Amino acid sequence: MNITVREIMPADYSVLEDFLYNAIYVPPGEEWPPRDVIFQPEIYIYVDGFGDKQGDIGVVAEADRKIIGAAWTRIIPAYGHLDENTPELAISVLPEYRGQGIGTLLMEKLFGLLCEHGYKRTSLSVQQDNPAVRFYQRLRFVITDEKLDHAGHEDFIMVKELCSMKTETQEKLACSLSAETTELLPFLPYLLQDFWELGSDPAVMVKLIKKHVDVSPETRILDLACGKGAVSVKIAEKLRVKVKGIDLLPEFIEYAHEKAQEFDVADLCEFAVGDINEAVKTETDYDCVILGAVGDALGSPAETLCKLKSVIKPGGYILIDEGYLPGGAKQSDVKCSHYELLTEAQWTDLFKEAGLQLVETVGDENNETAASGDSDTGMGFITARANELIEKHPAQREMFEGYVRGQQNEYGDLENTLVCVTWILRKN
Ligand SMILES: C[S@@+](CC[C@H](N)C(=O)[O-])C[C@H]1O[C@@H](n2cnc3c(N)ncnc32)[C@H](O)[C@@H]1O
Repeated sequence: MNITVREIMPADYSVLEDFLYNAIYVPPGEEWPPRDVIFQPEIYIYVDGFGDKQGDIGVVAEADRKIIGAAWTRIIPAYGHLDENTPELAISVLPEYRGQGIGTLLMEKLFGLLCEHGYKRTSLSVQQDNPAVRFYQRLRFVITDEKLDHAGHEDFIMVKELCSMKTETQEKLACSLSAETTELLPFLPYLLQDFWELGSDPAVMVKLIKKHVDVSPETRILDLACGKGAVSVKIAEKLRVKVKGIDLLPEFIEYAHEKAQEFDVADLCEFAVGDINEAVKTETDYDCVILGAVGDALGSPAETLCKLKSVIKPGGYILIDEGYLPGGAKQSDVKCSHYELLTEAQWTDLFKEAGLQLVETVGDENNETAASGDSDTGMGFITARANELIEKHPAQREMFEGYVRGQQNEYGDLENTLVCVTWILRKN
Protein backbone atom coordinates (compact mmCIF):
# COMPACT_ATOMS: atom_id res chain seq x y z
CA MET A 1 0.00 0.00 0.00
CA ASN A 2 1.43 3.34 -1.02
CA ILE A 3 0.59 6.01 1.57
CA THR A 4 1.14 9.69 1.04
CA VAL A 5 0.67 12.40 3.63
CA ARG A 6 -0.01 15.92 2.42
CA GLU A 7 -1.47 19.20 3.56
CA ILE A 8 -5.26 19.28 3.53
CA MET A 9 -6.89 21.20 0.63
CA PRO A 10 -10.27 22.96 0.60
CA ALA A 11 -11.71 20.12 -1.52
CA ASP A 12 -10.96 17.74 1.38
CA TYR A 13 -12.66 19.74 4.11
CA SER A 14 -15.92 17.86 3.84
CA VAL A 15 -14.26 14.58 4.87
CA LEU A 16 -13.39 16.04 8.25
CA GLU A 17 -16.92 15.26 9.49
CA ASP A 18 -16.27 11.55 8.88
CA PHE A 19 -12.93 11.73 10.64
CA LEU A 20 -14.47 13.64 13.52
CA TYR A 21 -16.96 10.80 13.98
CA ASN A 22 -14.11 8.28 13.79
CA ALA A 23 -12.13 10.21 16.36
CA ILE A 24 -14.77 9.56 19.03
CA TYR A 25 -13.44 7.09 21.57
CA VAL A 26 -15.83 4.26 22.40
CA PRO A 27 -14.56 2.09 25.27
CA PRO A 28 -14.63 -1.68 24.69
CA GLY A 29 -18.11 -3.13 25.18
CA GLU A 30 -19.87 0.20 24.65
CA GLU A 31 -22.03 0.96 21.63
CA TRP A 32 -21.06 3.51 19.03
CA PRO A 33 -23.18 6.63 19.28
CA PRO A 34 -25.25 7.54 16.20
CA ARG A 35 -23.35 9.55 13.59
CA ASP A 36 -25.34 12.72 14.22
CA VAL A 37 -23.68 12.98 17.64
CA ILE A 38 -21.02 15.02 15.86
CA PHE A 39 -23.52 17.83 15.36
CA GLN A 40 -23.58 18.53 19.07
CA PRO A 41 -22.09 22.05 19.26
CA GLU A 42 -19.22 21.06 21.59
CA ILE A 43 -18.16 18.39 19.08
CA TYR A 44 -19.01 20.10 15.79
CA ILE A 45 -16.86 23.06 16.72
CA TYR A 46 -13.82 20.96 15.74
CA VAL A 47 -14.81 21.07 12.04
CA ASP A 48 -17.46 23.77 11.65
CA GLY A 49 -16.38 26.11 8.84
CA PHE A 50 -12.90 24.60 8.75
CA GLY A 51 -10.46 26.76 6.82
CA ASP A 52 -11.90 30.07 7.97
CA LYS A 53 -10.26 30.38 11.36
CA GLN A 54 -6.78 31.18 12.55
CA GLY A 55 -4.96 27.97 13.39
CA ASP A 56 -6.97 25.92 10.88
CA ILE A 57 -4.17 23.71 9.65
CA GLY A 58 -4.52 20.10 8.58
CA VAL A 59 -2.98 17.11 6.89
CA VAL A 60 -4.45 13.99 5.34
CA ALA A 61 -3.09 10.53 4.57
CA GLU A 62 -4.06 8.98 1.24
CA ALA A 63 -3.89 5.42 -0.04
CA ASP A 64 -5.08 4.60 -3.55
CA ARG A 65 -6.53 8.12 -3.83
CA LYS A 66 -8.70 7.54 -0.77
CA ILE A 67 -8.28 9.64 2.34
CA ILE A 68 -7.62 7.20 5.18
CA GLY A 69 -6.56 9.53 7.96
CA ALA A 70 -6.58 13.16 8.96
CA ALA A 71 -5.06 15.36 11.65
CA TRP A 72 -5.98 18.98 12.03
CA THR A 73 -5.78 21.89 14.42
CA ARG A 74 -7.96 24.89 15.28
CA ILE A 75 -7.91 27.61 17.88
CA ILE A 76 -11.36 27.11 19.35
CA PRO A 77 -12.91 27.22 22.80
CA ALA A 78 -13.14 23.41 22.95
CA TYR A 79 -12.01 20.92 25.63
CA GLY A 80 -8.30 21.13 25.00
CA HIS A 81 -8.16 24.90 24.57
CA LEU A 82 -5.18 26.53 26.24
CA ASP A 83 -4.90 30.03 24.83
CA GLU A 84 -5.24 32.05 21.64
CA ASN A 85 -1.76 31.04 20.44
CA THR A 86 -2.14 27.30 20.86
CA PRO A 87 -4.05 25.35 18.21
CA GLU A 88 -5.90 22.32 19.52
CA LEU A 89 -5.32 19.09 17.66
CA ALA A 90 -7.61 16.28 16.54
CA ILE A 91 -6.55 13.13 14.71
CA SER A 92 -8.22 10.06 13.32
CA VAL A 93 -7.28 7.15 11.08
CA LEU A 94 -9.91 4.83 9.59
CA PRO A 95 -10.14 1.70 11.77
CA GLU A 96 -8.95 -0.70 9.08
CA TYR A 97 -5.74 1.34 8.60
CA ARG A 98 -4.76 1.66 12.26
CA GLY A 99 -1.62 0.14 13.77
CA GLN A 100 0.52 0.89 10.70
CA GLY A 101 2.20 4.08 11.80
CA ILE A 102 -0.10 6.33 9.78
CA GLY A 103 -0.99 8.39 12.86
CA THR A 104 2.68 9.13 13.47
CA LEU A 105 3.19 10.19 9.84
CA LEU A 106 0.21 12.53 10.09
CA MET A 107 1.42 14.01 13.35
CA GLU A 108 4.99 14.60 12.19
CA LYS A 109 3.74 16.36 9.05
CA LEU A 110 1.31 18.46 11.06
CA PHE A 111 3.97 19.43 13.65
CA GLY A 112 6.17 20.66 10.80
CA LEU A 113 3.34 22.79 9.37
CA LEU A 114 2.52 24.24 12.79
CA CYS A 115 6.18 25.21 13.23
CA GLU A 116 6.19 26.84 9.80
CA HIS A 117 3.15 28.88 10.86
CA GLY A 118 5.08 30.02 13.93
CA TYR A 119 3.13 28.07 16.58
CA LYS A 120 5.15 27.08 19.62
CA ARG A 121 2.88 24.31 20.94
CA THR A 122 -0.27 22.37 20.34
CA SER A 123 -2.76 20.84 22.77
CA LEU A 124 -5.41 18.15 22.79
CA SER A 125 -7.90 16.52 25.09
CA VAL A 126 -8.23 12.77 25.33
CA GLN A 127 -10.28 10.47 27.50
CA GLN A 128 -8.04 9.09 30.23
CA ASP A 129 -8.84 5.45 29.45
CA ASN A 130 -8.23 5.87 25.71
CA PRO A 131 -5.13 3.86 24.72
CA ALA A 132 -4.23 6.77 22.42
CA VAL A 133 -2.79 8.48 25.51
CA ARG A 134 0.32 6.30 25.10
CA PHE A 135 0.55 7.23 21.41
CA TYR A 136 0.50 10.93 22.32
CA GLN A 137 3.07 10.40 25.04
CA ARG A 138 5.38 8.70 22.56
CA LEU A 139 5.08 11.83 20.44
CA ARG A 140 6.10 13.82 23.53
CA PHE A 141 2.77 15.24 24.45
CA VAL A 142 2.77 15.84 28.18
CA ILE A 143 -0.26 15.65 30.47
CA THR A 144 -0.77 19.11 31.93
CA ASP A 145 -4.28 18.92 33.36
CA GLU A 146 -7.26 16.69 34.03
CA LYS A 147 -10.86 17.74 33.32
CA LEU A 148 -14.35 16.36 32.94
CA ASP A 149 -15.80 16.68 29.45
CA HIS A 150 -19.45 17.44 28.61
CA ALA A 151 -20.39 13.76 28.87
CA GLY A 152 -18.74 13.39 32.29
CA HIS A 153 -15.67 11.52 30.98
CA GLU A 154 -12.38 12.19 32.70
CA ASP A 155 -10.07 13.74 30.12
CA PHE A 156 -6.38 14.54 30.07
CA ILE A 157 -5.27 17.81 28.59
CA MET A 158 -1.98 17.15 26.81
CA VAL A 159 0.46 19.64 25.38
CA LYS A 160 3.35 19.26 23.01
CA GLU A 161 6.09 21.84 22.68
CA LEU A 162 6.88 22.27 19.00
CA CYS A 163 10.23 22.94 17.38
CA SER A 164 11.45 24.47 20.62
CA MET A 165 14.08 22.00 21.56
CA LYS A 166 15.55 19.05 19.73
CA THR A 167 14.48 15.66 21.09
CA GLU A 168 18.08 14.76 21.83
CA THR A 169 18.58 17.98 23.80
CA GLN A 170 15.39 17.29 25.78
CA GLU A 171 16.55 13.77 26.54
CA LYS A 172 19.95 14.93 27.73
CA LEU A 173 18.36 17.69 29.75
CA ALA A 174 16.17 15.12 31.49
CA CYS A 175 19.22 12.89 32.07
CA SER A 176 21.24 15.77 33.51
CA LEU A 177 18.59 16.00 36.21
CA SER A 178 18.31 12.23 36.61
CA ALA A 179 14.84 12.03 35.08
CA GLU A 180 14.14 8.80 33.20
CA THR A 181 11.69 10.41 30.80
CA THR A 182 11.29 13.78 29.11
CA GLU A 183 7.67 13.74 30.30
CA LEU A 184 9.06 14.75 33.68
CA LEU A 185 10.61 17.95 32.30
CA PRO A 186 7.64 20.23 33.06
CA PHE A 187 7.62 18.95 36.65
CA LEU A 188 11.35 19.19 37.45
CA PRO A 189 11.30 22.79 38.73
CA TYR A 190 8.51 21.76 41.12
CA LEU A 191 10.27 18.57 42.23
CA LEU A 192 13.55 20.41 42.82
CA GLN A 193 12.12 23.55 44.41
CA ASP A 194 13.70 22.81 47.80
CA PHE A 195 17.26 22.81 46.44
CA TRP A 196 19.58 25.58 45.38
CA GLU A 197 22.69 23.48 44.77
CA LEU A 198 21.90 20.89 42.14
CA GLY A 199 25.15 19.04 41.70
CA SER A 200 28.58 20.44 42.33
CA ASP A 201 29.82 21.87 45.57
CA PRO A 202 30.26 25.67 45.18
CA ALA A 203 32.93 25.72 47.92
CA VAL A 204 35.13 23.30 45.96
CA MET A 205 34.80 25.40 42.79
CA VAL A 206 35.64 28.60 44.67
CA LYS A 207 38.64 26.97 46.32
CA LEU A 208 40.07 25.65 43.06
CA ILE A 209 39.63 28.93 41.19
CA LYS A 210 41.14 30.94 44.02
CA LYS A 211 44.13 28.61 44.16
CA HIS A 212 44.92 28.30 40.46
CA VAL A 213 43.41 31.16 38.47
CA ASP A 214 45.07 34.54 38.52
CA VAL A 215 41.93 36.35 39.69
CA SER A 216 41.38 40.07 39.07
CA PRO A 217 38.26 42.22 38.66
CA GLU A 218 38.63 41.58 34.89
CA THR A 219 38.44 37.81 35.25
CA ARG A 220 35.52 36.28 33.31
CA ILE A 221 34.05 32.93 34.23
CA LEU A 222 31.47 30.93 32.30
CA ASP A 223 29.24 28.47 34.19
CA LEU A 224 27.70 26.16 31.60
CA ALA A 225 24.41 24.50 32.64
CA CYS A 226 24.53 26.57 35.80
CA GLY A 227 21.27 25.21 37.23
CA LYS A 228 19.94 27.66 39.81
CA GLY A 229 23.24 29.52 39.91
CA ALA A 230 24.58 28.23 43.24
CA VAL A 231 28.13 27.92 41.91
CA SER A 232 28.05 31.19 39.92
CA VAL A 233 26.69 33.28 42.77
CA LYS A 234 29.17 31.87 45.29
CA ILE A 235 32.11 32.49 42.95
CA ALA A 236 30.99 36.08 42.34
CA GLU A 237 30.45 36.63 46.05
CA LYS A 238 33.74 35.14 47.26
CA LEU A 239 36.08 36.15 44.41
CA ARG A 240 34.43 39.36 43.11
CA VAL A 241 34.79 38.25 39.46
CA LYS A 242 32.33 38.39 36.57
CA VAL A 243 30.36 35.20 36.04
CA LYS A 244 27.97 34.27 33.26
CA GLY A 245 25.64 31.33 33.86
CA ILE A 246 23.61 29.62 31.13
CA ASP A 247 20.91 27.00 31.62
CA LEU A 248 18.02 25.63 29.60
CA LEU A 249 15.38 25.85 32.30
CA PRO A 250 13.87 29.34 32.58
CA GLU A 251 12.65 28.64 36.13
CA PHE A 252 16.24 27.90 37.23
CA ILE A 253 17.56 31.06 35.63
CA GLU A 254 14.86 33.13 37.30
CA TYR A 255 15.87 31.65 40.65
CA ALA A 256 19.56 32.35 39.90
CA HIS A 257 18.69 36.03 39.30
CA GLU A 258 16.91 36.18 42.65
CA LYS A 259 19.86 34.60 44.43
CA ALA A 260 22.34 37.01 42.79
CA GLN A 261 20.29 39.87 44.19
CA GLU A 262 20.02 38.27 47.60
CA PHE A 263 23.83 37.86 47.75
CA ASP A 264 24.37 41.34 46.39
CA VAL A 265 26.26 40.20 43.30
CA ALA A 266 23.70 41.05 40.62
CA ASP A 267 26.24 43.46 39.10
CA LEU A 268 28.79 40.65 38.73
CA CYS A 269 26.43 37.91 37.54
CA GLU A 270 24.75 37.54 34.21
CA PHE A 271 22.29 34.69 33.72
CA ALA A 272 20.71 33.58 30.47
CA VAL A 273 18.35 30.85 29.31
CA GLY A 274 19.99 28.87 26.55
CA ASP A 275 21.35 25.61 25.22
CA ILE A 276 25.01 25.27 26.14
CA ASN A 277 25.66 23.56 22.79
CA GLU A 278 24.68 26.81 21.11
CA ALA A 279 26.45 28.98 23.68
CA VAL A 280 29.84 27.34 23.05
CA LYS A 281 29.62 28.49 19.43
CA THR A 282 29.67 32.14 20.37
CA GLU A 283 31.13 32.49 23.86
CA THR A 284 34.93 33.03 23.78
CA ASP A 285 37.95 34.31 25.68
CA TYR A 286 36.91 33.28 29.17
CA ASP A 287 39.54 32.81 31.86
CA CYS A 288 37.71 29.82 33.19
CA VAL A 289 34.74 27.62 32.23
CA ILE A 290 32.79 25.37 34.58
CA LEU A 291 30.79 22.25 33.74
CA GLY A 292 29.34 20.98 37.00
CA ALA A 293 27.37 17.73 37.14
CA VAL A 294 25.99 18.10 33.65
CA GLY A 295 26.65 14.63 32.25
CA ASP A 296 26.78 14.29 28.49
CA ALA A 297 24.82 17.42 27.51
CA LEU A 298 27.81 18.58 25.43
CA GLY A 299 28.26 15.19 23.75
CA SER A 300 30.85 12.47 24.28
CA PRO A 301 33.67 13.19 26.76
CA ALA A 302 36.04 14.05 23.87
CA GLU A 303 33.47 16.40 22.30
CA THR A 304 32.81 17.93 25.70
CA LEU A 305 36.49 18.74 26.23
CA CYS A 306 36.77 20.19 22.73
CA LYS A 307 33.75 22.46 23.28
CA LEU A 308 34.96 23.59 26.69
CA LYS A 309 38.39 24.39 25.27
CA SER A 310 36.86 26.57 22.57
CA VAL A 311 35.42 29.08 25.04
CA ILE A 312 38.60 29.79 27.04
CA LYS A 313 41.75 31.75 26.35
CA PRO A 314 45.10 29.98 25.94
CA GLY A 315 46.25 29.41 29.51
CA GLY A 316 42.60 29.40 30.66
CA TYR A 317 41.07 26.80 32.97
CA ILE A 318 38.32 24.20 32.79
CA LEU A 319 36.58 22.89 35.90
CA ILE A 320 34.63 19.68 35.49
CA ASP A 321 32.59 17.96 38.15
CA GLU A 322 32.05 14.33 37.12
CA GLY A 323 31.68 10.81 38.38
CA TYR A 324 33.95 8.06 37.09
CA LEU A 325 34.03 4.28 37.43
CA PRO A 326 36.60 3.14 39.99
CA GLY A 327 38.95 0.25 39.11
CA GLY A 328 37.08 -3.02 38.97
CA ALA A 329 33.64 -1.43 38.63
CA LYS A 330 31.59 -1.94 35.50
CA GLN A 331 28.95 0.19 33.85
CA SER A 332 26.40 -2.47 34.84
CA ASP A 333 27.20 -1.88 38.55
CA VAL A 334 25.74 1.59 38.22
CA LYS A 335 21.99 1.53 38.81
CA CYS A 336 21.15 4.97 37.54
CA SER A 337 23.36 5.56 34.55
CA HIS A 338 22.11 7.67 31.71
CA TYR A 339 25.31 7.68 29.68
CA GLU A 340 28.47 5.66 29.40
CA LEU A 341 30.84 6.32 32.27
CA LEU A 342 34.61 6.30 31.90
CA THR A 343 37.36 5.22 34.25
CA GLU A 344 39.83 7.73 35.66
CA ALA A 345 42.54 6.45 33.30
CA GLN A 346 40.26 6.94 30.29
CA TRP A 347 39.57 10.52 31.35
CA THR A 348 43.24 11.33 31.88
CA ASP A 349 44.08 9.94 28.43
CA LEU A 350 41.40 12.19 26.95
CA PHE A 351 42.80 15.23 28.78
CA LYS A 352 46.21 14.57 27.21
CA GLU A 353 44.75 14.02 23.76
CA ALA A 354 42.86 17.30 24.06
CA GLY A 355 46.02 19.21 25.03
CA LEU A 356 44.80 19.85 28.57
CA GLN A 357 47.01 19.69 31.61
CA LEU A 358 45.42 18.18 34.72
CA VAL A 359 46.26 20.69 37.45
CA GLU A 360 44.42 19.25 40.46
CA THR A 361 41.77 16.68 41.33
CA VAL A 362 39.51 17.17 44.31
CA GLY A 363 37.60 14.14 45.45
CA ASP A 364 34.69 14.56 47.76
CA GLU A 365 32.18 11.97 48.83
CA ASN A 366 29.51 14.62 49.01
CA ASN A 367 30.77 16.51 46.04
CA GLU A 368 28.05 15.47 43.65
CA THR A 369 24.68 14.41 44.89
CA ALA A 370 21.49 13.68 43.00
CA ALA A 371 20.11 16.98 44.20
CA SER A 372 22.48 18.31 46.75
CA GLY A 373 22.32 17.88 50.49
CA ASP A 374 22.79 14.68 52.43
CA SER A 375 20.88 11.77 51.00
CA ASP A 376 18.26 11.49 53.77
CA THR A 377 17.32 15.16 53.67
CA GLY A 378 17.48 15.20 49.88
CA MET A 379 15.26 12.13 49.53
CA GLY A 380 12.86 13.57 52.10
CA PHE A 381 12.30 16.70 50.00
CA ILE A 382 12.05 14.83 46.73
CA THR A 383 9.62 12.24 48.09
CA ALA A 384 7.39 14.91 49.62
CA ARG A 385 7.23 16.91 46.38
CA ALA A 386 6.63 13.78 44.31
CA ASN A 387 3.76 12.80 46.63
CA GLU A 388 2.20 16.23 46.18
CA LEU A 389 2.36 15.76 42.43
CA ILE A 390 0.89 12.25 42.68
CA GLU A 391 -2.06 13.70 44.57
CA LYS A 392 -2.56 16.33 41.89
CA HIS A 393 -1.97 14.00 38.92
CA PRO A 394 -2.91 10.50 40.11
CA ALA A 395 -2.75 9.08 36.60
CA GLN A 396 0.97 9.84 36.52
CA ARG A 397 1.74 8.15 39.82
CA GLU A 398 4.06 5.65 38.16
CA MET A 399 6.16 8.37 36.56
CA PHE A 400 6.64 10.28 39.82
CA GLU A 401 7.34 7.10 41.77
CA GLY A 402 9.88 6.18 39.12
CA TYR A 403 11.56 9.53 39.62
CA VAL A 404 11.84 8.95 43.36
CA ARG A 405 13.29 5.47 42.77
CA GLY A 406 15.74 6.91 40.28
CA GLN A 407 16.90 9.50 42.79
CA GLN A 408 17.34 6.80 45.43
CA ASN A 409 19.42 4.75 43.03
CA GLU A 410 21.49 7.77 42.13
CA TYR A 411 22.22 8.57 45.75
CA GLY A 412 23.21 4.90 46.14
CA ASP A 413 25.52 5.03 43.11
CA LEU A 414 27.17 8.21 44.28
CA GLU A 415 27.71 6.84 47.76
CA ASN A 416 28.72 3.29 46.87
CA THR A 417 29.80 2.86 43.27
CA LEU A 418 31.04 6.00 41.56
CA VAL A 419 33.94 8.25 42.46
CA CYS A 420 32.95 11.90 42.24
CA VAL A 421 35.65 14.44 41.56
CA THR A 422 36.24 17.98 40.45
CA TRP A 423 39.08 18.37 37.97
CA ILE A 424 40.76 21.63 37.14
CA LEU A 425 42.51 21.54 33.77
CA ARG A 426 44.67 24.11 32.01
CA LYS A 427 44.61 24.77 28.28
CA ASN A 428 48.18 24.77 26.96
C1 LIG B 1 22.53 18.45 37.83
S1 LIG B 1 22.21 20.06 37.28
C2 LIG B 1 23.73 20.87 37.68
C3 LIG B 1 23.56 22.35 37.80
C4 LIG B 1 24.83 23.12 38.20
N1 LIG B 1 25.86 22.99 37.22
C5 LIG B 1 25.31 22.67 39.56
O1 LIG B 1 26.33 22.00 39.63
O2 LIG B 1 24.63 23.01 40.55
C6 LIG B 1 22.30 19.91 35.52
C7 LIG B 1 21.85 21.17 34.79
O3 LIG B 1 22.12 21.04 33.41
C8 LIG B 1 21.15 21.79 32.72
N2 LIG B 1 21.23 21.40 31.30
C9 LIG B 1 21.17 20.15 30.77
N3 LIG B 1 21.32 20.20 29.44
C10 LIG B 1 21.52 21.49 29.11
C11 LIG B 1 21.74 22.18 27.89
N4 LIG B 1 21.83 21.53 26.71
N5 LIG B 1 21.90 23.51 27.92
C12 LIG B 1 21.79 24.20 29.09
N6 LIG B 1 21.58 23.60 30.28
C13 LIG B 1 21.44 22.27 30.30
C14 LIG B 1 19.88 21.43 33.45
O4 LIG B 1 18.82 22.35 33.22
C15 LIG B 1 20.37 21.46 34.89
O5 LIG B 1 20.17 22.71 35.47
